[in-house]
Amino acid sequence: MTEKFVELNMEEGIATVTINRQKSLNALSQEVLEQLGQVIKYVGQDDEVRVVIITGAGSKAFVAGADIGAMVNMTAQEARDYSIFAHKVFESIEQLPKPVIAAVNGYALGGGNELALACDIRVASSTANFGQPEITLGIIPGFGGTQRLSRLVGKGRALELILTGKMIDAKTAEAMGLVNVVVPPEELMNTAKGIAKKIAAFSPLSITFAKEAVNRGLQMTLKLGSKYEIELWTDCFTTEDQDIGMAAFLNKQKPAFKGA
Ligand code: CAA
Repeated sequence: MTEKFVELNMEEGIATVTINRQKSLNALSQEVLEQLGQVIKYVGQDDEVRVVIITGAGSKAFVAGADIGAMVNMTAQEARDYSIFAHKVFESIEQLPKPVIAAVNGYALGGGNELALACDIRVASSTANFGQPEITLGIIPGFGGTQRLSRLVGKGRALELILTGKMIDAKTAEAMGLVNVVVPPEELMNTAKGIAKKIAAFSPLSITFAKEAVNRGLQMTLKLGSKYEIELWTDCFTTEDQDIGMAAFLNKQKPAFKGA
């Protein structure tokens, strides 16, 4: 029987996805990536799920990277396939029409930092550490780090992490914009769930449009991205939730969005 490395817990419209392979600090073996991909597909299709949280099991690691034990004897073709597959899974997170929050509870290194980067918001425990140590292994980041890290924190900061392989603490990661908020370890999950609940109360349609406008817009020129924003903004005005949200404001009431 296949071992279960990815757990799913549903509560009040929030799906918590926990990567649990603690003996290897939750390293992303092919099996872990496959199970993560399946769970992301499932939560994407489940209308009950409004927001997803991804975290790591235990207090030591979020994810300590790709699986070094599995990579040591890989051929170049096998390494390419591994990278292509991980990119596919991480793209499915980035393109999920629901927000994904990374609750980073410990080491987020290599593929672990790259997983956090594929999420929309990163909340970190004060004990978390971040880095792209691939250079120390004679390789480069291969699960999206060269692209997403430089887009998020800028070329200079990204190259500093990628070329030195150094680890940074959560506060340093927050200062460079890699992390949205840092909290004590015991507050991590409640903070992530608090953000998730706040988002879950809004119209899922405008939430999806907002995520798509930012993510797809970043792949475009400013001019094309702006045009794309106009289209999605226009689409908002075809929804009932736009009527509900604006009428509630004018009537000094709390909106009860329908997702329609
Ligand atoms: N892959 C496979 N196994 C890993 C792992 C990884 N990425 N990270 C940790 N482990 C394993 C260790 O081998 C060890 O196993 P054993 O008990 O069987 O020896 C176990 O997890 C615990 O790790 P340590 O004993 O090393 O724990 P530590 O507290 O001394 O150090 C650490 C913690 C600093 C995170 C250290 O484990 C470490 O440096 N890990 C590797 C981090 C790394 O280089 N990540 C990048 C991987 S490459 C990559 O991700 C490529 C890409 O772009 C996709």
